[in-house]
Amino acid sequence: MRKLLIFGVGTLALAFGAMAARTAAPPDPPGAGDTVSAWVLAASDTANLKGPRQPIFFRHDIHVGVAKTPCQYCHYSAGESSEPGMPSVQSCMGCHLIIGGTDTTHQVEISKLRDAWNNKQPIEWVRVHTLARHARFPHQRHIKAMGPNACQTCHGDIARMPQVFKVNNVNNMGFCITCHVERQVNRDCTACHY
Ligand code: HEC
Ligand code: HEC
Ligand code: HEC
Ligand code: HEC
Ligand code: HEC
Repeated sequence: MRKLLIFGVGTLALAFGAMAARTAAPPDPPGAGDTVSAWVLAASDTANLKGPRQPIFFRHDIHVGVAKTPCQYCHYSAGESSEPGMPSVQSCMGCHLIIGGTDTTHQVEISKLRDAWNNKQPIEWVRVHTLARHARFPHQRHIKAMGPNACQTCHGDIARMPQVFKVNNVNNMGFCITCHVERQVNRDCTACHY
């Protein structure tokens, strides 16, 4: 584990060096004690994870929990737009041109990413949260009012999730209304419904 960590810090330092050229604020490399309980999950463990399986086994616990990449590095428009934004394959490759993975399982998943990059194919992520078409949810209004770390209020502790699952049922109107009542926010039907 210790060896793995040291290697990880080395590769990260390299990766962040490469990234600094194209991004304003590269994320900090992981420090001591920033390990997740296990970098590598056994197949039997992954079968039991909550949430939909994704085309590439992308892990928030590693990218956010360990590598400390800020949410908005990837979900780049959460503060400015209704849609939080999803990272392009190119933004993944900012690190993964260099980082190939320390473990076979990681290498296999990262090779899927590199294939997508080489074939110029977007990755078709499976949606976890989706509202019905008659409802709207503006991310930017919530981030402006509740701050950049508000994500957790609705999405739970993503930084510890190997696979994203729904913590709150956002398709239950009561979830929205309860907080809007608490914070004395607009509750007109037309604020949320088309
Ligand atoms: C800030 C740098 C960075 C960015 C950006 C990044 N990664 Fe990673 N990624 C890492 C590091 C560090 C690891 C751990 C590598 C190891 O030692 O196995 C990793 C591991 C992985 C793995 C193997 C472990 C796992 O998660 O199952 C996959 C797959 C992966 N990344 C996919 C992606 C995808 C897809 C994107 C874009 C959405 C992306 N990465 C963006 C740094 C990054
Ligand atoms: C390195 C890029 C990267 C970072 C950093 C990142 N994400 Fe993600 N996020 C993704 C990718 C890729 C997906 C789609 C695959 C999946 O669901 O895991 C995703 C999916 C999600 C989803 C599910 C989307 C849906 O369909 O409902 C949520 C919620 C989310 N991220 C929140 C966060 C939060 C909160 C943070 C910070 C704590 C964060 N993400 C940091 C790349 C990233
Ligand atoms: C007040 C609750 C709330 C907060 C706070 C919130 N979200 Fe969401 N998020 C939602 C809802 C509801 C949806 C589904 C929206 C839809 O279907 O139109 C969603 C969807 C998403 C998706 C999927 C978007 C897609 O295009 O696939 C991502 C990624 C995401 N949120 C990331 C974040 C991040 C990152 C933050 C913090 C910067 C955040 N969210 C803060 C409620 C929230
Ligand atoms: C944890 C608290 C919280 C939750 C949960 C929440 N909201 Fe909000 N909502 C807010 C706050 C705070 C504002 C910001 C009001 C402002 O801009 O001053 C807001 C603003 C809005 C607005 C803009 C209202 C206007 O003034 O026009 C809409 C639309 C909205 N929310 C929809 C939703 C929907 C849909 C959901 C459920 C999927 C939801 N919200 C869940 C706290 C919340
Ligand atoms: C703060 C946002 C918000 C407000 C205000 C709001 N709704 Fe909703 N409503 C939602 C969301 C989110 C859903 C769930 C959409 C989905 O299924 O994904 C919903 C669902 C519904 C449904 C579908 C049945 C159900 O319960 O799921 C009806 C009908 C409805 N709303 C009527 C209303 C009426 C009438 C008002 C005004 C009195 C209102 N809504 C105000 C967010 C809101």
